[in-house]
Amino acid sequence: MSTAAMTTTHSSAVAAEGAPLLEVRDIRKVFVDRDFQTPVLKGVNFTLQRGEMVAMLGPSGSGKSTLLSILGTLMRPTSGSFRMQGRELTALREAELSDFRNQQIGFIFQYHHLLPDFTALENVLFPHAGRLWRETRAGRERAAMLLERVGLRDRMNYRATRLSGGQKQRVAIARALMNQPALVLADEPTGNLDRENADQAFALMTEIQRETGTTFLLSTHDRELAERCERRIYIAGGVVVDQPQPAASVAAATSARPSMRVITGDVPAVIDHTGQSGDADRRRA
Ligand SMILES: Nc1ncnc2c1ncn2[C@@H]1O[C@H](COP(=O)(O)OP(=O)(O)OP(=O)(O)O)[C@@H](O)[C@H]1O
Ligand SMILES: [Mg+2]
Repeated sequence: MSTAAMTTTHSSAVAAEGAPLLEVRDIRKVFVDRDFQTPVLKGVNFTLQRGEMVAMLGPSGSGKSTLLSILGTLMRPTSGSFRMQGRELTALREAELSDFRNQQIGFIFQYHHLLPDFTALENVLFPHAGRLWRETRAGRERAAMLLERVGLRDRMNYRATRLSGGQKQRVAIARALMNQPALVLADEPTGNLDRENADQAFALMTEIQRETGTTFLLSTHDRELAERCERRIYIAGGVVVDQPQPAASVAAATSARPSMRVITGDVPAVIDHTGQSGDADRRRA
């Protein structure tokens, strides 16, 4: 698959050159449950530039998933603002938000969230076809191209339940890219994978990020992977406690990552080694 094929109608192209992709200002979130309140985010500020691969780190319970849900417009903040592509998203109504989300934001979750009875191809097509399943030929071709890109050409017509954990997560990566989003939000995308599959999935994301200019923000507890990102944002106590600017060592760090050129049509043995259609979620449970 050519790089050009992945980049042609990149949606971020509509926004002004040079402007940050995402500006997060004083985001707060208090969960209110009957009589008690849980303040989780206490004024989060940061900016994402276009095309960055940024890791978000922080202790369990520090609010990473909450923040990703808010930035993904799946949850409203209690207060604060964030602008993406120059648009203030907290001001949008539900219908506008859902269109924006569908076109501009891709999601990758720790537990893939594939539709089990759908094939790999149908799962990737889903963000394009929607619940009423209006697919186009171009959409189907793109889904197939993406699956080929993530090394699953020979698994396109397998139902999700017949895929290994690493394969499922690669389908989830392809699905996140289906609508050519400007931003991919990934919540512990490798948290459910063994070391080798985690490295493969991460390397795949970084390759795609470089090829397409898609911005990635991913939460992780994996410091090794975080070190391979261009930048890291640390969250604790509901605020950003540190976000060191990129060091000159980024090039050195990224050159140490495993090669992903194995991703062609065939599933590499290293990914297949789990050799099972069992669910990684269950193995972990
Ligand atoms: N719906 C909710 N109601 C009340 N509290 C909530 C709700 N959702 C999350 N929380 C609380 O918000 C805090 C942050 O949760 P969150 O899932 O964002 O953390 P996290 O940083 O993603 O943690 P982990 O690394 O374990 O995934 C936790 O203390 C959690 O209990
Ligand atoms: Mg979380």
